[in-house]
Amino acid sequence: MFRTHSCGELNISHLNQKVTLSGWVSVIRDKGFMIWIDLRDRYGITQLILDEQRTDKSLMEKASKLGREFVIQATGTVIERESKNPNIPTGEIEILVEAIEILNESKVPPFTIEDKTDGGEELRMQYRYLDIRRNPVKEKLIFRHKIAQEVRKYLSDKDFLEVETPVLIKSTPEGARDFVVPSRMNPGEFYALPQSPQTFKQLLMVAGLDKYFQIVKCFRDEDLRADRQPEFTQIDCEMTFVEQEDILNIFEGLLRHLLKTVHNIEVDKFPRMTYAEAMKKYGNDKPDIRFGMEFHELNDLAKGKGFEVFDKEELVVGISAPTLNSYTRKDIDRLLEWIQRPQIGARGFVWVRVNEDGSFKSSADKFYSQEDLKAFADRMNAQKNDLMLIMAGNANDVRKQLSALRMELAERLELRKPDEFAPLWVVDFPLLEWDEDEKRWFAMHHPFTSPKPEDISKLKTNPGEVRANAYDMVLNGNEIGGGSIRIHDQKLQSQMFELLGFTKEQAQEQFGFLMNAFQYGAPPHGGLAFGFDRLVSILDGSETIRDYIAFPKNNSGRDVMIDAPSPIDKSQLDELKISLKK
Ligand code: AMO
Repeated sequence: MFRTHSCGELNISHLNQKVTLSGWVSVIRDKGFMIWIDLRDRYGITQLILDEQRTDKSLMEKASKLGREFVIQATGTVIERESKNPNIPTGEIEILVEAIEILNESKVPPFTIEDKTDGGEELRMQYRYLDIRRNPVKEKLIFRHKIAQEVRKYLSDKDFLEVETPVLIKSTPEGARDFVVPSRMNPGEFYALPQSPQTFKQLLMVAGLDKYFQIVKCFRDEDLRADRQPEFTQIDCEMTFVEQEDILNIFEGLLRHLLKTVHNIEVDKFPRMTYAEAMKKYGNDKPDIRFGMEFHELNDLAKGKGFEVFDKEELVVGISAPTLNSYTRKDIDRLLEWIQRPQIGARGFVWVRVNEDGSFKSSADKFYSQEDLKAFADRMNAQKNDLMLIMAGNANDVRKQLSALRMELAERLELRKPDEFAPLWVVDFPLLEWDEDEKRWFAMHHPFTSPKPEDISKLKTNPGEVRANAYDMVLNGNEIGGGSIRIHDQKLQSQMFELLGFTKEQAQEQFGFLMNAFQYGAPPHGGLAFGFDRLVSILDGSETIRDYIAFPKNNSGRDVMIDAPSPIDKSQLDELKISLKK
């Protein structure tokens, strides 16, 4: 038997028991006459003690030769510690060692395996299995497990069936880029890895399974960011005979259940905001509503005063940043530089200080009187010591730029509190978006999303105005889930493909399987998928999903531990009938 107990289990109630523990040597303190060893496993740390008076000399020698991260088995008696450590559950006891077995030696690890480590990101990724021995990393994986368990419990209790769908599927031109896999048995042909199980879950509804879910890997060959990985996990769900309202209720119930079980937080019914409203108030379809700084449009107040910068633009819009009147001219100049970076690309802003005495000072004083500025402040509900920041431009662009500024200021003002949770639904997304480069419509969500029945007549005349039965769940400024009511009518689905620029033949070739299925009694259905990695990280107060994935990819999409992707042998290529151009 390797162990009688784990390293996190023993306490004062076990005094005088003979125990055997197995684990990793975390720390050794060797005073010559006395040796302490911190023995670590997943469950905690237990202190082992050997001393000249009570321990056999050869055992002392053996212990003194142990190194960090050696795997050992230690047998001994639980005794009370002289100096107790109140910070750990085993802190009142230690084990007086009677025997040690070295189960495996270890090289000196490339970084210290402690909560605060000296290892850089790349090194820790390369030795991820060592990084996971550290508490902060391990705890994130445990947290992820707990959320997965709760999700399974909630959905199973509501009659959802967990069904697996295939991973080798067919490439489709919509959405992000596919990862493709060559088929040896069908030379020149490729599978694609699923960007999501979308069509399969719809087929499961045609099949009559009624309620489906799956915690499933999805693959997208897209540029990476802190909240994006090329392979990530969804909680993918679909339901039959439901309207949007039913879906919103079930899945807001799921997040409520998680917040309650994990953080003991009760949340009211989620607020709902239309896409149009979100864009107007926050310039963003995933607004962080934990703090104010809403947008206020100023066209009627700011135009016509001779200030050409505002007069000639489509939209003048501003935010009022609390307490930011403390910014010096230099700070403001730096902020200006920040929004002028190519990533944001704004030309500039007008700033207005709201002084303690109620007077205003602005960068456009030449054009705006104190009364004008007071009208701005009233519109924006600006308080004393606020700094109003006003931008102008084409409506879409300026909203995006101001949104980036709003989020940046919220970070700087520490208004994005990680332990505060403000979920909401964004609904009524546009069905289509125009792509200027390709000069065609794209589905904003995906091609299977149904238009709002009252907007169907506009599909031919004014496609850009058609709203979809689509919704996103947003948590703290992140899109954690999205879904829609689907088209289940074959004719409407064909019309949709046509709008998206597919010929009949292309539609048949790409999605024939789905359209055929729709001819055999497809029920009304809809669903949603959560980004599981995002959900877990945000629930844990972070926005870096990589930390919540056991073996993540780096920013270039590489796994630096196994060194993937990598070239393959010529013989493998030959077998696949693939020749690489030099
Ligand atoms: P969508 O494309 O919106 O919808 O994806 C659902 C959720 O998955 C998460 N997500 C990601 N997480 C990490 N890395 C990525 N690269 C990544 N891409 C997306 C997001 C997102 O909200 N089939 C539809 C769902 C449906 O209609 O039911 C779909 O995949 O949190």
